[in-house]
Amino acid sequence: MRFGFLVGLAVELTFGPSSAESSIQHNGVEQSNVMSFVEDRGRLLVSPRCKLPPEAVIFGRSQAMQALREKLQKAAATSVPVHISGESGTGKEILCNLLHHWSPWKDGPFVKVTCPAIPSTLLESELFGYEEGSFTGAYGTKPGRVEMAHRGTLFLDEIAELDLALQAKLLHLLQDGQFSRIGGQEDRRVEVRIVSATSRELKKEVAAGAFRQDLLYRINVICMHLPPLRERRGDIPELVSHFLAFYSAAFKTPPRPVPGLLTRLLENYDWPGNIRQLENLIKRYVILGSEEAICCDLVTQSPAPACPGFPSCGPTSLATVIQEAAPDFEREFILKALEAHHWNRKRAARTLGISYRALLYKIRQTGLKARVNP
Ligand SMILES: Nc1ncnc2c1ncn2[C@@H]1O[C@H](COP(=O)(O)OP(=O)(O)OP(=O)(O)O)[C@@H](O)[C@H]1O
Ligand SMILES: [Mg+2]
Repeated sequence: MRFGFLVGLAVELTFGPSSAESSIQHNGVEQSNVMSFVEDRGRLLVSPRCKLPPEAVIFGRSQAMQALREKLQKAAATSVPVHISGESGTGKEILCNLLHHWSPWKDGPFVKVTCPAIPSTLLESELFGYEEGSFTGAYGTKPGRVEMAHRGTLFLDEIAELDLALQAKLLHLLQDGQFSRIGGQEDRRVEVRIVSATSRELKKEVAAGAFRQDLLYRINVICMHLPPLRERRGDIPELVSHFLAFYSAAFKTPPRPVPGLLTRLLENYDWPGNIRQLENLIKRYVILGSEEAICCDLVTQSPAPACPGFPSCGPTSLATVIQEAAPDFEREFILKALEAHHWNRKRAARTLGISYRALLYKIRQTGLKARVNP
């Protein structure tokens, strides 16, 4: 298959079985280009390729995600830079993996760099490599991760954390497909797709002078925004089933479906930690095997009720406002605990940290009795 690009340059390349040129020399050892590189606390590890969830789970049913899938497919067929934005835990890394997997360089390396995980003093040498003697401690020559990603994908996670000097060097790579190792005399060429991600708003970073505008235009030739989970609630049941099956198999426990009421609670929750939070919750449910393990989170992390508007005139006593708001808040909180436990009052009382008798009293006092015995 032929298609054109070279880190943003229009260069014709031929894709086919791995060739001698598509492998690179690292410290004298030729590495196959069918490896994935991930980094763990700043160290680079070679890992087997990540296993991705099924596409039906990744994209779900929402219109926004279907549109994203189409965009991703089109982007994957080229090798222009892609920028992925979205709140933490929305699946930016999964999307990047999929992009690599769908690209003609899917058998090439996938190299991830978590920018804030590497001290800024080391990041330049990690990214671009160095020549022997270029600084104290540079005893040998070392290629950087940019080179390691040759004919593959370089994933720059949390790119907003790059300092301005490195941004300039990255711009050079994106513009000309060239870079130089630290202490190197020659410009080196590399063919790589750069995918960047951030949960920050880069336009705001540009306005604050922390991110180069010209780099922003270079990295987001194609820009993809992942919606937060609260904007795709319809996909929650499918995600829950997927995580249940996955973790039941992983921990060798019999599959234990989530009761309907609890699923409704999951669908109504706001998910500040997005899919990662949902995944961890289901993992806990599978390991501990009890609904309480989930309910505590959903009840204690519920958003605070709306604050009343501040009156434009007249004195306002804080104590009075709080006193007036407390019963509604308490009622709402107790109701959520009861719903989470299928109206089992003993278990709800345990979760709320009050006695069974105290809960019965509060149910009467807050008018929830009619809900218990309609
Ligand atoms: N669509 C999805 N389907 C299944 N699992 C998903 C999906 N999106 C995310 N996940 C899971 O949620 C977790 C977080 O995903 P990921 O690391 O891709 O998010 P992120 O946006 O990169 O988060 P952060 O900004 O915190 O790095 C992972 O364990 C991933 O497997
Ligand atoms: Mg991430």
